Amino acid sequence: MCGIFAYLNYQIVASRQEILDKLVNGLKRLEYRGYDSAGIAFQECFNEDCDCFIKIIKQTGKVAALEQLVSENKDSVDFSKELDIHVGIAHTRWATHGEPSPTNAHPHRSDPHNEFAIVHNGIITNYKDIKSFLSQKGHKFETETDTEVVAKLLKHLFDAHKDQKIKFRELVELTVAQLEGAFAIAVISKHYPGDIVATRRGSPLLIGVKSKNKLSTDHIPVMFSKDHRGVLGASTSRRTDEETEYHSAGPEKEIEYFFASDASAIIEHTDQVIYLEENDVATVHEGSLNIHQATRSLNESTSREIITLKMAIEEIMKGSFNSFMQKEIFEQPESVVNTMRGRVNFDTKTVVLGGIKEHMCEIRRCRRLLFIACGTSFHSAIATRQLLEELTELPVMVELASDFLDRTTPVFRDDVCFFISQSGETADTLNALHYCKQRGALIVGITNVVGSSISRESNCGVHINAGPEIGVASTKAYTSQFIALVMFGLMMSEDRISLQPRRLEIIQGLKELPEKIKKVLTMDDQILQLAKELHQEKSLLVMGRGYNYATCLEGALKIKELTYMHSEGILAGELKHGPLALVDEAMPVLMVCTRDNVFSKCENALQQVKARHGIPIIICNEGDGELLTADCNQNLSKQKNQANCAASDTIVVNCHDGKGTKPQHKHNRLSLSFEVPQIIDCLQGILTIIPMQLLSMHIAELKELDGRPIIICNEDDADTQKLAYKFVEVPRTVDSLQGIVAVIPMQLLSYHIAVLRGYDVDCPRNLAKSVTVE
Ligand code: AGP
Ligand code: GLU
Repeated sequence: MCGIFAYLNYQIVASRQEILDKLVNGLKRLEYRGYDSAGIAFQECFNEDCDCFIKIIKQTGKVAALEQLVSENKDSVDFSKELDIHVGIAHTRWATHGEPSPTNAHPHRSDPHNEFAIVHNGIITNYKDIKSFLSQKGHKFETETDTEVVAKLLKHLFDAHKDQKIKFRELVELTVAQLEGAFAIAVISKHYPGDIVATRRGSPLLIGVKSKNKLSTDHIPVMFSKDHRGVLGASTSRRTDEETEYHSAGPEKEIEYFFASDASAIIEHTDQVIYLEENDVATVHEGSLNIHQATRSLNESTSREIITLKMAIEEIMKGSFNSFMQKEIFEQPESVVNTMRGRVNFDTKTVVLGGIKEHMCEIRRCRRLLFIACGTSFHSAIATRQLLEELTELPVMVELASDFLDRTTPVFRDDVCFFISQSGETADTLNALHYCKQRGALIVGITNVVGSSISRESNCGVHINAGPEIGVASTKAYTSQFIALVMFGLMMSEDRISLQPRRLEIIQGLKELPEKIKKVLTMDDQILQLAKELHQEKSLLVMGRGYNYATCLEGALKIKELTYMHSEGILAGELKHGPLALVDEAMPVLMVCTRDNVFSKCENALQQVKARHGIPIIICNEGDGELLTADCNQNLSKQKNQANCAASDTIVVNCHDGKGTKPQHKHNRLSLSFEVPQIIDCLQGILTIIPMQLLSMHIAELKELDGRPIIICNEDDADTQKLAYKFVEVPRTVDSLQGIVAVIPMQLLSYHIAVLRGYDVDCPRNLAKSVTVE
């Protein structure tokens, strides 16, 4: 999580204002990665004759708040000053340690004189040990973050090596050798004017290079330093003297470097980038870039290629849309085509995924397929599991990456493990990848971001080519992941004669898909009306089964992450085993009921909901709306009367009056903890469930005893109730693709509810696009 951006100009004249604008703009591009606070640090002066110092400006909230604060610093900073060598670092945070506050915001400093300033993405897991060591040595900590130990450790080691004139890179190598956890770090220092050192382990970082002159090479050789095995404050090292440099080949050596967590902050400046590998230490000194590794491993590549980004600047702009999420929802007719482009041949009815073609024999020989992912990416695997089982005739395991690791799930050499991730950087998914790789399984990456860690660390894979997804809530990546997995299933079954009719049916479905998505998108106004009715509700249950179970999980995830409403995706087959207890006339229920082999079972679930006076909203196929809603509409007036409430002693937990009145809540709760005894891990769940059983029992008893029913109260009831029962019709397509058209109304619904609630749909609270921490 979080976005790191750094900019260094060497022998290129720019005013301070231009440099600060570049830093702030870089942060704006990365804001979707974290947005609870932001900050920048830059060298106020680094003329070797004068005393250079680092200025740090930090603010809570979004980058706009930082931008405002920067402009208010006009008195202390000379904005018009022209600089031909300069370096600055910037950060937009997603807090892991310490609440969002100006103090906890990055950059962090080593001491009150700002000798070192650092930005960090990730978590330093051994920060407590380092903090206590440094505290004993007299360092004073001013923040609650884990990151601050890195800044303080840099200074501590610098002071310890003062006499040896330690190089900046060596100092950073010594420092990170003491760190555990995940990080991408960029450091500047008043002791090394005009230089920057950046390194990564577990978190992404890339470098953009821009120069008018030809560059000295298109591959940067990696230099290997000796191991640093010393403990805190006691390391010694001997290293190679050669340093292989990357610089502008012109006489002036003018060059600019952009360090960023992802390419979206770089593309407007240059398309020439270098992706740093694990443990790379990149240093820019006097305009030249070097890349070092502390130790050499056998599989390690000995150079880093300069890659040309194939991203267009328009792809990361909102254009005429109100938000990135809205743009990305409406891009789906094109993004699904891009996923299939060059892969599905609709004339020959063949599918070729170039990235895994060479490994197909090995994949066909395996005994099971594992699909491992988080969040929406996990849902794409759930969505296609049934089809993959049918087409591959193999057992298919679908796993949440965090749980998969918690269970230390057995993995065998002949397993084929798919890692699905839009960003390709999700820490849980990446950790699961490492786990499976160590056990010798074949690693297949399904990612959207080219050059991401998962795509680089996989044995083979598929880029879903959905284009940059900036909105934190994943939309077009889901549909493209879905299609990528369907294409894989089609490839696996190409020789199965008995499956040919099924394959042809699916390929035809893929062909018609873009048009059908367009048709669903025309319902946007209808869905906006529905959102107006629902946006004051507290909860929304989303039910379905079969191919649409994943649609429900994904729909509910969208609702909760964007609208902060409680929402649950419920397998309709499980309704009678518990969730039905939630259903009454007040609980909004959204049901997916499309024509497939579970249609009649969905109808049963619908009847069960109606029998409890539920008023479901249904997503169904064209022509089915009347059929599925008719009897419920007849009962509507009866239900309306039952839902009336006016008693003054009623606890009103949710009241939508159609006029935008906010729901009223009575919450006077304290934060409590219930401590259960420790027991062997596999039995612990029996103990932890008991407080929850007790809690639900007591709440039920209390409601009964004081006789105050919790009721949805509609002041102006008639219209609202009439509208509260709605259906949304989606075009019919082949059953295994139905989930793609059915999920779009949910995306639109969650989008509109969030907008109506006044929330920022691109940056929902507490979330971040790329979850690079466990
Ligand atoms: C989706 O709307 C969420 N923001 C989130 O669940 C996301 O899908 C998850 O964090 C996985 O991300 P990835 O696909 O980049 O690995
Ligand atoms: N762990 C650091 C913090 O809480 C960095 C978090 C991030 O990646 O934004 O400040």
